[in-house]
Amino acid sequence: MLHRAIGIFDSGVGGLTVFKEIMRALPREDLIYLGDTARVPYGTKSAETVRRYALEAGAFLVDQGVKVLVVACNTASAVALPALRERFRLPVIGVIEPGARRAAQSRSGRIGVIGTEGTIASGRYEDAIRSFLPEASVCSTACPLLVPLAEEGWAEHAVAHLVADEYLARFKQRQIDTLVLGCTHYPLLRKVLQGVVGDDVTLVDSAEQTAEAVRELFAEQGLARPDGGGQRTFFVTDVPDRFVRVGEPFLGQALGRVTQVRIEG
Ligand code: DGL
Repeated sequence: MLHRAIGIFDSGVGGLTVFKEIMRALPREDLIYLGDTARVPYGTKSAETVRRYALEAGAFLVDQGVKVLVVACNTASAVALPALRERFRLPVIGVIEPGARRAAQSRSGRIGVIGTEGTIASGRYEDAIRSFLPEASVCSTACPLLVPLAEEGWAEHAVAHLVADEYLARFKQRQIDTLVLGCTHYPLLRKVLQGVVGDDVTLVDSAEQTAEAVRELFAEQGLARPDGGGQRTFFVTDVPDRFVRVGEPFLGQALGRVTQVRIEG
């Protein structure tokens, strides 16, 4: 029997945080990753453009014969999930619903969400959290400077602390008890973010929650491969050099071979 892979895509290196968690949750599965590095960032682009990019990325992975599509990018999950589900006949999992479901376990119902401009403007996290916890009081803010800080390897630098302090000040006033890390890059900044909001605030890592959602889906639908596997393949849309250099801390290990492809329809 031919075993098919899980397809995972993001605008660039960030989705490797999701890839890493899926690799941990389902070590036997073959994984194919696509980073749309020629067109990153998605977070500052219009919903219409991100939808188009996401459909092209999805089509590339579907052509590879994947059995499930994971949208690792929060921005693409926020604006393109219905279009992807309409276009492709396979399960499509985004990062927003799993993160929102976990955030809705908040005791006080005061929840903060951080993400890119596109993710925050979409209001998708707020809607998803309220679908699980209607009385939730959700406060969201875009933190665009955190993405380049993580890519620069400055995730624990004093500058990251200063920037996070500025962005998160309003959450401290509102006494949130849960903060959703609604961007692929933020798990790298976890230490700094926790330091700023304090140890009493629960950080929800969408990458971890998404891997758990994929594991649950596999258990429900009997999609897991019983043996072998564990092959990892990486594709990018720009030359691979920067992806390899910047991506390794996101994955937590060496990437190996990365192949450049064209995905524009
Ligand atoms: N991957 C994006 C996200 O999670 C962040 C980087 C970008 O703006 O493309 O929203």
